[in-house]
Amino acid sequence: MPQQVRGVIARAKGAPVEIVPITIPDPGPGEVVVAIAACGVCHTDLTYRDGGINDEFPFLLGHEAAGVVESVGEGVESVAVGDFVVLNWRAVCGQCRACKRGRPQYCFDTFNATQKMTLEDGTELTPALGIGAFADKTLVHAGQCTKVDPSADPAVVGLLGCGVMAGLGAAVNTGNVGRGDSVAVIGCGGVGDAAIVGARLAGANKIIAVDRDNKKLDWARDLGATHTINATEFDVVEAVQDLTGGFGADVVIDAVGRPETWKQAFYARDLAGTVVLVGVPNPDMTLDMPLVDFFSRGGALKSSWYGDCLPERDFPMLVDLYQQGRLPLEKFVTERIALDQVEEAFESMHRGEVLRSVVVL
Ligand SMILES: NC(=O)c1ccc[n+]([C@@H]2O[C@H](COP(=O)([O-])OP(=O)(O)OC[C@H]3O[C@@H](n4cnc5c(N)ncnc54)[C@H](O)[C@@H]3O)[C@@H](O)[C@H]2O)c1
Ligand SMILES: [Zn+2]
Ligand SMILES: [Zn+2]
Repeated sequence: MPQQVRGVIARAKGAPVEIVPITIPDPGPGEVVVAIAACGVCHTDLTYRDGGINDEFPFLLGHEAAGVVESVGEGVESVAVGDFVVLNWRAVCGQCRACKRGRPQYCFDTFNATQKMTLEDGTELTPALGIGAFADKTLVHAGQCTKVDPSADPAVVGLLGCGVMAGLGAAVNTGNVGRGDSVAVIGCGGVGDAAIVGARLAGANKIIAVDRDNKKLDWARDLGATHTINATEFDVVEAVQDLTGGFGADVVIDAVGRPETWKQAFYARDLAGTVVLVGVPNPDMTLDMPLVDFFSRGGALKSSWYGDCLPERDFPMLVDLYQQGRLPLEKFVTERIALDQVEEAFESMHRGEVLRSVVVL
């Protein structure tokens, strides 16, 4: 029987989010219904609400979540009722040209649920990143559920489902940060701070945090930054060069995603260094730069989808490191809120007061 639960939707561009009844179908073949335990508020949810991703309103927001499998559809073998799972938004297909070449982290045909969740009047919802977890329950593809240690706090490990994995993976997987590297991270929200944690885990010896907000810089230092730069007070490129013997950092991660921050990342990087773009630009943003600079400075210019992660490989491992006290994931949870406080959480995010607000159900 289809069931009705509460969900947080964005009905129209820029309008405040609403909490409404939504209808969840029984899971079909390959699908799973998950009872959500916790879901973090990511900047991407706000970008959806503001129409910066696409126009497929109404959106069912929320995509950084952990919960318990409530029911499974035909043919589902990877998870069973009662399993504690972190949801992921890149369930790899195993069949596309990227998967077949042994690069499933780039899968070009990732899986989502086939059936639609709807409003009471039958209007189909677009779940954010194919998840939609600001809700009591959600419908996903079985491949979007990754089993992890059930004794872990869902509000903490749910964050692996998006921002923390994206940032940490941007440093470790995409940026390939290694022992002794110098790393600069521009934008120290949940994603940028996770990149800092990842750089530290990988053995970087200089980790430079850049933000416009001193409180964010304090948090970044607490999470492992060795140096901080307030972008409103200093020229970012010069300041990074000053801290790296005049050369620039080996890896610079743009966790904001604007033309000006990407340019800073590009020029704050040492010759033959790596730029990683993990912040998501809006479709109207463009870049105008001398082509010769790209050639003469060499190195790699990369983008990071979801930290180039493989959920089945990375989520259980990172949960273990967290449980062992080697990964301070709990520091990303600034506040725990109720389902009807998502709009307030967007405002707190905008004012820079939180790393993550986490909806706890
Ligand atoms: N690539 C991915 O897979 C992926 C996954 C999740 C989120 N994201 C994106 O990552 C970005 C960051 O997400 P978040 O949740 O950490 O957001 P956030 O709002 O919590 O953090 C952004 C930070 O950047 C700082 N900032 C803004 N403009 C700046 C500037 N010009 N210079 C320096 N600092 C500046 C802000 O003060 C803030 O601390 C967003 O664009 C989000 O959509 C990407
Ligand atoms: Zn694939
Ligand atoms: Zn996200």
